Amino acid sequence: MRFMTAEPFRIKMIEHVKKSTIEERRKWLKEAGYNIFRIKAENVYIDCLTDSGTSAMSNEQWAALMLGDESYAGCKSFYKMESSVQDIFGMPYVQPVHQGRGADLFIAQIYCEPEKYTIGNMHFDTFRGNAEIVGAIPIDLASDGGMDAASGYHPFKGNIDLEKMQKFIDEKTPDKISVVIITVTCNNNGGQPVSMQNIREVNKLAKKFNIPVVIDAARLAENAYFIKTREEGYAETPIKEITREMFSYCETAVMSAKKDGLVNIGGLFVTRSEEIFQKANNLSIAHEGFITYGGLAGRDLEALAVGLQEACDFEYLKYRVGELEYLGSNLDEKGIPIIKPVGGHGIYVDGRRFFPQIPQSEFPSQRLVCALYEEAGIRAVELGACAFGQKDPDTGEDIWPKLEVMRIAVSRRVYTNNHMDVIVNALDHIYKKRDTYKGLRLVYQGPILSLRHFTAGFELI
Ligand code: F0G
Repeated sequence: MRFMTAEPFRIKMIEHVKKSTIEERRKWLKEAGYNIFRIKAENVYIDCLTDSGTSAMSNEQWAALMLGDESYAGCKSFYKMESSVQDIFGMPYVQPVHQGRGADLFIAQIYCEPEKYTIGNMHFDTFRGNAEIVGAIPIDLASDGGMDAASGYHPFKGNIDLEKMQKFIDEKTPDKISVVIITVTCNNNGGQPVSMQNIREVNKLAKKFNIPVVIDAARLAENAYFIKTREEGYAETPIKEITREMFSYCETAVMSAKKDGLVNIGGLFVTRSEEIFQKANNLSIAHEGFITYGGLAGRDLEALAVGLQEACDFEYLKYRVGELEYLGSNLDEKGIPIIKPVGGHGIYVDGRRFFPQIPQSEFPSQRLVCALYEEAGIRAVELGACAFGQKDPDTGEDIWPKLEVMRIAVSRRVYTNNHMDVIVNALDHIYKKRDTYKGLRLVYQGPILSLRHFTAGFELI
């Protein structure tokens, strides 16, 4: 196997991408209000906006699609998906949903209460949106190193800081905390993994106070890969044994299957509690669809049953994380400031260190997103002042987030290392003339603050 270092697949079907000129891209950016979500996908050369729903499916998955049973109730495809999920999660009750945020709505409705706290490493924005609607207060308790894009090496920057958690529970009292949510890997701070030890200890602490633990498992296989390769005692443990142990420490897990499910649409709500399952079933009937399809077609369930298993294949994961390590180390060599070590699904460029002349009130990472698109047609996403900015409820003053990054998300099985080279060359070019850039002025934002980045509008300063 010494020479077998290339991708563990070959390409059977291709999708053309369009090249464009810098003048065209400048015009499209202006028309889009410098919001990358408003750019037409056909005008993107390499799309690193997200790793969600953008995976290339395998021939086995495409074949499985044809077996989709489209019966309204009790379709065959549900049972295949259910047993694939049980195999990986080790939990009995499986409710499919149309995508991750469907399950976020369920957790908010089932576990959250108005004016009570939900604590976690870093809550993802679609959960925050749903929690905000219920009136719950999400609090991020990742370790300090995990909140600092310039911090030194730590193998598990996604960990919850147990001291902070204990202090928070003591301060607020346990009955003010309705749930703990551990996001694996931690998307907001670099796709950084959470160690098994941390998951185990968070669960132990939460149990002491009778607080239920939920795992947001969108990237469960990538997290398991990091446990296997970075945590003592797991080198010989198969990936699926690691995932099952991870979930043995929670009551419920939710998943956007659009990531490690290797499918283009789908989500899951998985639990060991019959009572919670029944609540989820009712929410599904009201919001998603009947219990055995939850907003998905039978063929989607088939593709998911296969995709989940493929995502837990060690050789696939080694290639997957290897591609990110390739991109990360090449950027690092050019001196471009990124979160290190690299995580599972994207490279996170530190907007503060890249553009020190641009204050957070002028959106440095969003400026970098625009520069990368302008120069090379590469679409990344801001996770900084726009996505995470908050307002003081009393004074209305802006509160700027600790993390100020641009995420280059890498789709699964879609791009080659040649594409990664394009990204490195383009960012290197921008970095060399970084002093010439000024920031952006926010001119429009929607009514739900935690979702404003999807629709915000900007002007160049
Ligand atoms: N949880 C996590 C950790 C996520 O990263 C996402 C989506 C969701 C929940 C919601 O899932 O999109 O299927 O409704 N993350 C995407 C991203 C959108 O770009 O990181 P969804």
